[in-house]
Amino acid sequence: MVDGEELAALATELELRAPSTILQEALTRFGETCAISFSGAEDVVLIDMAVELDLPFRVFTLDTGRLHPETMRFIERVREHYGIAIDVWSPEGDAVRELVSEKGLFSFYRDGHGECCALRKVAPLRRALAGYRAWITGQRRDQSPTRTDVPVVQLDSTFRGLDGPLVKFNPLAAWSSHKVWGYIRTNDVPYNELHDRGFVSIGCEPCTRAVGPGQHEREGRWWWEESTKKECGLHIGNRES
Ligand code: ADX
Ligand code: SF4
Repeated sequence: MVDGEELAALATELELRAPSTILQEALTRFGETCAISFSGAEDVVLIDMAVELDLPFRVFTLDTGRLHPETMRFIERVREHYGIAIDVWSPEGDAVRELVSEKGLFSFYRDGHGECCALRKVAPLRRALAGYRAWITGQRRDQSPTRTDVPVVQLDSTFRGLDGPLVKFNPLAAWSSHKVWGYIRTNDVPYNELHDRGFVSIGCEPCTRAVGPGQHEREGRWWWEESTKKECGLHIGNRES
């Protein structure tokens, strides 16, 4: 089902439901043609909830080639802890080589993050999503000024799936960071060790830094850019709407 109006109605119906109920809806409707997009940060709660539901599900992660070693180790820990398969998508070697040969390894500080993210994150995501009908993200409304209106389910107008438009589920949309961490602590969910060192929102190593008390989590991402531009392309629809 990929009709926009029907999805809007479903979003209204699911808005006040718990994340695991939204996840259950996604997995029941789409089964293994639906995948959790796991960044290696606190969105691990989606995997924990999916395991609890005991329904078949898929997980993929985008290895940009610039992730922290701690994140790589965490992804492996999650794989072992839950005994699940995680598809790891890498960027296309030639495209990255051309960018790096021409502009160096840190062009994003000078030119903005768009070009590098397009090659290292968005292109691999496009390839990954081509095999699915729906995907599940850990986006939350409290994460960023660009995410305040994120619905719990929506039509993805940016990417194409197995047979055309994709459905995008955001089960944690209405949860706060506090709730996510409450879930992690209560359920003894494994988490990325960077979180114990002041990192809140975690992306690539050169584009992520720890934040201090009272700072918004997004201030640790692409800190040299304006807050309204802080979408790397995975969720570009948030900026366009
Ligand atoms: S980003 O667009 O700014 O990088 P963010 O780090 O807030 O996104 O994560 C929001 C959601 O996007 C995650 O919960 C996850 O679903 C997806 N996501 C982000 N980075 C990755 C990644 N490297 N691999 C897979 N999914 C990702
Ligand atoms: Fe490149 Fe930084 Fe984007 Fe990672 S977050 S893909 S290093 S610009």
